[in-house]
Amino acid sequence: MITASNIALSYGRRVIFKDVNIKFTPGNCYGLIGANGSGKSTFLKILAGQLEPDRGEITKGRGERIAVLSQDQFAFDEHTVFNTVIIGHKKLYKVMIEREALYAKADFTEEDGIRAGELEARFGEMNGYEAEAEAAVLLNGLGIPEEMRQKKMKDLDGSDKVRVLLAQALFLQPAGPEDHHLAGGISLPLPEHGNNRLP
Ligand SMILES: Nc1ncnc2c1ncn2[C@@H]1O[C@H](COP(=O)(O)OP(=O)(O)O)[C@@H](O)[C@H]1O
Ligand SMILES: [Mg+2]
Repeated sequence: MITASNIALSYGRRVIFKDVNIKFTPGNCYGLIGANGSGKSTFLKILAGQLEPDRGEITKGRGERIAVLSQDQFAFDEHTVFNTVIIGHKKLYKVMIEREALYAKADFTEEDGIRAGELEARFGEMNGYEAEAEAAVLLNGLGIPEEMRQKKMKDLDGSDKVRVLLAQALFLQPAGPEDHHLAGGISLPLPEHGNNRLP
């Protein structure tokens, strides 16, 4: 169950909404309707934790998490199916592609070896190995077989793309605010660009 309590938001002097109280209960499907500019997108951003309301709070049941299905089917066109799922966890993805780029280097130096070791350790700390397995299980469960994992998103038909984006949304880790990445609006370098060193 998701509960919105006393939510209020204004942009400048313009009150978009106030005193919004609503409970979303399990097993139901909800639609949000309203005129253009009435605040639908703003409310959904607040629900998803992407925007802080001026007042009020969003609470959800223990062990529940909110996932957002990315609406832009073309945003991940140049990424592989597998990487598109992993992108759901931004930090893990960064480590993964830096590691891949390192191992793909023809002139692998001693320094690269040290960096690779650091990345492997970081990957392990984030449960990266389990996460990779989890991503594969999610894809299989959604009807995306192993042989499709390395295909680029642009080569998939619409229904398969939506399945992958669903896997991406479900892949998100239920963690603290710092780790709470939403599928929408993520813009990350492509693996081909190589130098994705972490700060
Ligand atoms: N970042 C912002 N700064 C100021 N005004 C905004 C911002 N985002 C949205 N608005 C205004 O808030 C109102 C609600 O926007 P929005 O939630 O996008 O409406 P809807 O999705 O229902 O069409 C609109 O009048 C819009 O112009
Ligand atoms: Mg809108």
